[in-house]
Amino acid sequence: MKKLSLRDLEVRGQRVLTRVDFNVPTDERDGRVVITDDTRIRESLPTINYLREQGAKTILMAHFGRPKGKPVEKYSLRPVADHLQTLIDHPVAFSTDTIGKIPEEIISHMNDGDVALLENVRFHAGEEANDPKFAEALAKLGDLYVNDAFGAAHRAHASTAGITKFVKQSAMGFLMEKEIQYLSGELEKPAKPFLVIMGGSKVSDKIGVLKALMEKADVILIGGAMANTFWKAQGVPVGSSRVEADKLDLARELLDLAKKKGVRFLLPVDALEADRIEAGATARNTSRVSPTHGISDGWQAVDVGRATIGLYEEEIAKAKTILWNGPLGIFEIPAFALGTIAIAEALARSKATTIIGGGDSVTAVKQAGLADKMTFISTGGGAALELLEGKELPGIAALSERS
Ligand code: 3PG
Repeated sequence: MKKLSLRDLEVRGQRVLTRVDFNVPTDERDGRVVITDDTRIRESLPTINYLREQGAKTILMAHFGRPKGKPVEKYSLRPVADHLQTLIDHPVAFSTDTIGKIPEEIISHMNDGDVALLENVRFHAGEEANDPKFAEALAKLGDLYVNDAFGAAHRAHASTAGITKFVKQSAMGFLMEKEIQYLSGELEKPAKPFLVIMGGSKVSDKIGVLKALMEKADVILIGGAMANTFWKAQGVPVGSSRVEADKLDLARELLDLAKKKGVRFLLPVDALEADRIEAGATARNTSRVSPTHGISDGWQAVDVGRATIGLYEEEIAKAKTILWNGPLGIFEIPAFALGTIAIAEALARSKATTIIGGGDSVTAVKQAGLADKMTFISTGGGAALELLEGKELPGIAALSERS
């Protein structure tokens, strides 16, 4: 890897500004903010614990939600500081402001091995504007910079990119390294057959990633509402299913490209169709789709059908590397989740390297209780897709080069 790693830094006694992605899902119960999934916090622990063991003063920076450049109480990181404290079994000093006197005072009292968390960087407009003044004010609080916020690495913000101009050295944290290793390194020369499962609602969200993966994949399996657009492009009746009507040419272009590249690009062969999208709707499996037979008039495709599940399971069993991004149906409604769950189970049974590329497929794998059966689960959403697309992420590009 070309970039400096945390392991390359001399951190003992140093104030290490560490950008993490603590943008975790929360819920409000009895007027209190409750973290409903702390995976991103836990995934930062190897970096935080290493810094503590090495005797660094760890100053954590993070964003939370989209408060639009001003303080919004419900986006305060204080509940995260409290939670982190219990995870590392050490006090976490919480700074109620992100820059200036308050954090300076807190940091001046830190001992080696201590941890502080600054209030939400997005409470300042300078963060998202990547304002050099704000970046410099952040940088003033530390000596070295570590970026472990993979989930935010596609943002060119002050705490993810601008700050590196004002510190001596900046390096990748361990989570950042791991994400790059799996989403980029492992897929550089994947063990073959390399199978990609791409779901989700919009083809338009996945154009770049589909094109990039066609360079490497042997087979691509399509699911989710995205499949409807491909079906319609091929003349399959889609009833009232969700379709991107302005993306039919694009869908045809992608199908042609797959043919040219020799990639087997499989669409679902049947669907679960429902009379409406809600729990309690009437749903039934269609027979095999074709240009003369598809989704019934007035009905909508809500999941892949049983024949598709069987076909996709066979493909999964043959693969040596599998990348999955996006659910195959509307899995938030249990009656429409069968396809997505079956794919998660097939991946769990497989001996292949299984990489879950972020977003809703991660939620599905967790809901199925199969997270520990996967080789790697990304903590990034947009960042994971952009990296898979082969784009340069600003949060990585800005780090010091390894000489
Ligand atoms: C995410 O949750 O995907 C990241 O934390 C980035 O958040 P953002 O989309 O608000 O920039």
